[in-house]
Amino acid sequence: MMKDLKGKTAIVTGGARGIGKTLVTALASEGCHVLVSDIDGEGARRTAKETAGMGVETLAVQGDVSNAPDVEAMIDQCIETFGRIDILVNNAGITRDNLLMRMKEDDWDLVLKVNLKGAFLCTKQVVRSMMRQRSGKIVNIASVVGVMGNAGQANYAASKAGLIGFTKSVAKEVASKNIQVNAVAPGFIQTDMTEKLTSEVKETYMNHIPARMFGNPEDVAAAVIFLASSSSNYITGQVLHVDGGLVM
Ligand SMILES: NC(=O)c1ccc[n+]([C@@H]2O[C@H](COP(=O)([O-])OP(=O)(O)OC[C@H]3O[C@@H](n4cnc5c(N)ncnc54)[C@H](O)[C@@H]3O)[C@@H](O)[C@H]2O)c1
Repeated sequence: MMKDLKGKTAIVTGGARGIGKTLVTALASEGCHVLVSDIDGEGARRTAKETAGMGVETLAVQGDVSNAPDVEAMIDQCIETFGRIDILVNNAGITRDNLLMRMKEDDWDLVLKVNLKGAFLCTKQVVRSMMRQRSGKIVNIASVVGVMGNAGQANYAASKAGLIGFTKSVAKEVASKNIQVNAVAPGFIQTDMTEKLTSEVKETYMNHIPARMFGNPEDVAAAVIFLASSSSNYITGQVLHVDGGLVM
């Protein structure tokens, strides 16, 4: 347990299910108060309920990370309820896979809008209050695909590569204000997002993973907890791979 996370306030976007949901419970079990944001309001409320009995306050807020008024309302609610924001995890993300020649312009736009613009909007709003308090931790959930590329995921890979460039740029801008900005690049993690892949795609992945196993949301959560804690205070602008050795 990271003692210094007790009593801190965190926002997790896309917290209704999958990796985001596990991040919420992991942060809560470290003693963090958590705002769970998701476009799926019902799912966000379900996640929030799972932290009952952990001795922390959890607030569910329905909203779209790519919609500026929704993001503003979410940040306002966080400040109103908890008084501050110590940790932001930009986790909300989507895929709309297809080969380039078949990729629709709408699917390109939507993936870039949610995965990249969403992180921009949330970070911009949060950095304002982190700068005032002269401390903060931002963790962006990227992907190994943003580093190595992936056939059929040109839009998703571009959004995640963009998120890594965004992470490094913002890290440089706010480092002197004692705000650390890092990315976690998960490999193949077992969630709804990867469940829909064909068994051939899964097998191809497995053949390239030196650890010879897929990861769990808990593996990602352990990296996020480290990057959200004071143990990582001298680490910024980094991309931490959680992928069983897939990319090295
Ligand atoms: N599962 C993997 O193997 C894997 C690998 C690398 C990176 N990632 C990244 O991890 C993050 C979480 O992935 P997951 O596997 O848990 O996916 P998931 O599809 O299970 O969950 C994503 C969550 O984001 C929410 N969401 C979608 N669009 C949103 C929007 N516009 N505003 C707010 N919330 C929105 C969804 O409702 C859902 O609750 C994503 O950024 C994904 O790209 C996942």
